[in-house]
Amino acid sequence: MFKRKDLLGLKDLTAAEIELLLDTAVPMKEIITRPIKKVPTLRGRTVVNLFYENSTRTRGSFELAAKYLSADSINISSSSSSVAKGESLYDTARTLQALRADVIILRHPMAGAPHLLAGAVPAAVINAGDGAHEHPSQALLDLFTVREHRGEISGLRVVIVGDILHSRVARSDIWGFTKLGAEVRVCGPPTLIPPGLEQAGIKVFHRMEEALVDADVIIMLRIQKERQQQGLFPSLREYARMYGLNRERLALARKDVLVMHPGPMNRGVEITADIAGGPRAVIEEQVTNGVAVRMALLYLLAGGGAGHENDH
Ligand code: CP
Repeated sequence: MFKRKDLLGLKDLTAAEIELLLDTAVPMKEIITRPIKKVPTLRGRTVVNLFYENSTRTRGSFELAAKYLSADSINISSSSSSVAKGESLYDTARTLQALRADVIILRHPMAGAPHLLAGAVPAAVINAGDGAHEHPSQALLDLFTVREHRGEISGLRVVIVGDILHSRVARSDIWGFTKLGAEVRVCGPPTLIPPGLEQAGIKVFHRMEEALVDADVIIMLRIQKERQQQGLFPSLREYARMYGLNRERLALARKDVLVMHPGPMNRGVEITADIAGGPRAVIEEQVTNGVAVRMALLYLLAGGGAGHENDH
């Protein structure tokens, strides 16, 4: 039983809770492979996607997850809602509560926004990415994808490459993979690696050629082009030369390595097109698994699996 009201990050979850979320996603994956992908589990429940930042994968998969579980769902984006007229997050949340939302899925540019919301409303709150802080459902789908291929996470060598400093995906992946017993390595330019990782048991590399040796999993992060203006790396061409995943670098990893990317990708910058579309890449599987994992989250937080009552 999942005893939490909200899913705000992986930092606070135990390994057992993460395993429960992944185990629950297994039957959900079976549902989405059926010709008719619909079960009545969340009939009568209301799910709100509240997005203050752009999204394709996260928003689309949460919306499909709600529909496949027969919940009623609505999408609200900041540009087309009263947020554009200056309504605060708090007042928007209270309004959604008055509309009897059972689950609010929030993406917000401010780290900590979902935590604020969770304290303000009785609805379950799911963090769909908050600033550079966490993106827990992305990490869960990454874990699920690796577990499907490898059976278990423990003992694997996972290498995360790119802009670790600004990446909420990296932060959640680091928590998730380390809690389940993987060795986590990060690699990127010194300007894009936050301090203190080594004290937390993470191995830090600045050269791909060292980091990728015998990797079981490589997670390539999107280079956030806006960072170039901040002088954190010299040019996209230079970044691609130093930190792009190409065939020569891939050959340093294990033969059965899984290449992952949370998307959206900059093909030809952090990853070459042939690797992104090649046999080691599981990038589209990640997207499919995102629906299963998000169905599991909705089920556990709003359905029969919750150890609390969200009824109000
Ligand atoms: N991985 C991810 O969060 O993608 P979107 O921004 O498209 O949701």
